[in-house]
Amino acid sequence: MRTVKSVRAMQRQALAWKRSCVRVGFVPTMGYLHEGHLSLIRQARQLVGTGGKVVVSIYVNPAQFGPREDLSKYPRDFTRDVQNCRKERVDVVFAPGDEEMYPHDSRFSTYVTEEMLSKGMEGASRPTHFRGVTTVVAKLFNVVLPDFAVFGAKDYQQAAVVQRMARDLNFPVRVVVGQTHRERDGLAMSSRNKYLKGPLRSQAVVLWRAIQKVKEVVRTRSGTISAQRLKADLKTFIESEPAARLDYVEFFHPETLLPARKVTPGTHMALAVFIGSTRLIDNARL
Ligand code: PAF
Repeated sequence: MRTVKSVRAMQRQALAWKRSCVRVGFVPTMGYLHEGHLSLIRQARQLVGTGGKVVVSIYVNPAQFGPREDLSKYPRDFTRDVQNCRKERVDVVFAPGDEEMYPHDSRFSTYVTEEMLSKGMEGASRPTHFRGVTTVVAKLFNVVLPDFAVFGAKDYQQAAVVQRMARDLNFPVRVVVGQTHRERDGLAMSSRNKYLKGPLRSQAVVLWRAIQKVKEVVRTRSGTISAQRLKADLKTFIESEPAARLDYVEFFHPETLLPARKVTPGTHMALAVFIGSTRLIDNARL
């Protein structure tokens, strides 16, 4: 396994693979890898098949963090990440620094924005977030030149925005969405779970419990289920945990991401909840 830190070296490798018709699967990450990431790596391996190559990027992208977000304390453990990638038979870990990705910082002035799917939910709560994501993912696609790129379903809106960006800008890459991995109690795996100390860890399961509660309502209630009413009930339910504060819960069409006024089987649900100062997200098809 190679660790590549420079954009030029990565691009050179990617071009050599292209010339030899080697298929490349790519898993972009911000590191601090957990079982969820590892399953995306395995999926990338399957997609490229025998003779294909798998690249994992590890880069905490400053452009997707707001000024009051957790960029400086975002969890990092590069040594452990590299060990995990080696175990998964990753071919290249691409781990650029900020100078490689955003050289001459103040003179970096080109951004990629998706203007429809990125507006609500995460986009409304974190106004510059998706611009940062689409910009860095577009850059990574141009450097790694993947045939497949695998994103996690926990960031449902992110995956939809990236798929749209790839389609709209004609990136020759298939964007694949891999399953969310969960702890035994239902908490979606996330690098940010590291922040959940003591009682915060058990309270964080409230996101999963909220999803289960809505699934049960959809399964058992006949007649119209009002999204507005459900949202109010969920706020009370979630905030009955002492450290929990609801940022948003939304019900929406799984493809257009347009908000739904009525909740029916097949409607998608996403929520963001602060547990203490840690912001967690989760989602599910109902
Ligand atoms: O999901 C993430 O970890 C990040 O948003 C991504 C896709 C690696 C871009 O920085």
